[in-house]
Amino acid sequence: MSWIREGELSFWERLGVGVIRAGPMPRHIAFIMDGNRRFAEKQKVKKLEGHSQGFAKLTETLQWCLSLGIREVTVYAFSIENFKRSKEEVDGLMELARQKFTRLLEEQENLEKHGVCVRMLGDLTLLPQDIQQLIAKIELTTSRYNSCFLNICLAYTSREEISHAVQELAWGVEQGLLQPSDVSESLIDKCLYSCKSPHPDILIRTSGEVRLSDFLLWQTSHACLVFQPVLWPEYSFWNLWGAILRFQMNYNALQKARDMYMEERKWQQLENDKAQVTEKLKQEGSSPRDPQAWQMLLQDCRAKREERIQDFLQALERKRADFLEKLVSASA
Ligand code: FPP
Ligand code: MG
Repeated sequence: MSWIREGELSFWERLGVGVIRAGPMPRHIAFIMDGNRRFAEKQKVKKLEGHSQGFAKLTETLQWCLSLGIREVTVYAFSIENFKRSKEEVDGLMELARQKFTRLLEEQENLEKHGVCVRMLGDLTLLPQDIQQLIAKIELTTSRYNSCFLNICLAYTSREEISHAVQELAWGVEQGLLQPSDVSESLIDKCLYSCKSPHPDILIRTSGEVRLSDFLLWQTSHACLVFQPVLWPEYSFWNLWGAILRFQMNYNALQKARDMYMEERKWQQLENDKAQVTEKLKQEGSSPRDPQAWQMLLQDCRAKREERIQDFLQALERKRADFLEKLVSASA
């Protein structure tokens, strides 16, 4: 089964695309693809067949998203918690990933044609070594494509992602790249596995479960959460259409909450900068200067912080690139 399906939409579906595109469209949708095993049970087939059908539905959904002009999709493919499932199921899911990632690499031409960048989010070191190597090859070969983005969360939980980001920040301070006062919400955001993506506009969970199950907890505070009863392998174009309609109906409220948060964050940063300048003056034993001199100190403080942050983020990028390149050379 190919990752990129170029199936035609039906007349009614094309009409549906036209109607929904008249309203504000999400840029990024995240999916918790739940209900594969219940689907398998319903169909009286093996659990793994349910997961295979789940993969087929993922490729179909990606095509719908493209037709709707949605350029970024994030999916929860395997949680760290899923390692607790039976060995047979875990091994089966790993084998599915192995096969599908090998296929993805064989489809490079198609990925290039459509400009698909594929990223894997999670603690990749928990995965079998050969899958890590496939992932490294996929990431390195598709990183320059930028028409659409597929983020696959594997060996992922949100708490692990946040803990990992905090560890990266601690490393930055330890290395002398950062000062503790540089740590802010916006910097934590840049240390998450999802740092290259805008936060999702919609989070969809199928199968009727109404939990987030440790998925994108940080990134979805202003997303439209849509819980749908349909089992993932039975997901349809019209389920997706309905979720987008729900987003559009709530668009103004979501936007307002997001804008208010951004304003607050800016204000918070300004307060932090002011406190730092005051502290610096205190340490130097100088008294507050005239407003112009104070403003210059404030600007200087910001510029230096920005420089430290850029150096730190570049060091993180290099660490990640080294990790991926080592995996690729070990597999050669
Ligand atoms: C949740 O349904 C689904 C999973 C844990 C696996 C999702 C994986 C896929 C859809 C395949 C994707 C594959 C690749 C290579 C990206 P469940 O098992 O929890 O089913 P249940 O809720 O009915 O028990
Ligand atoms: Mg489930």
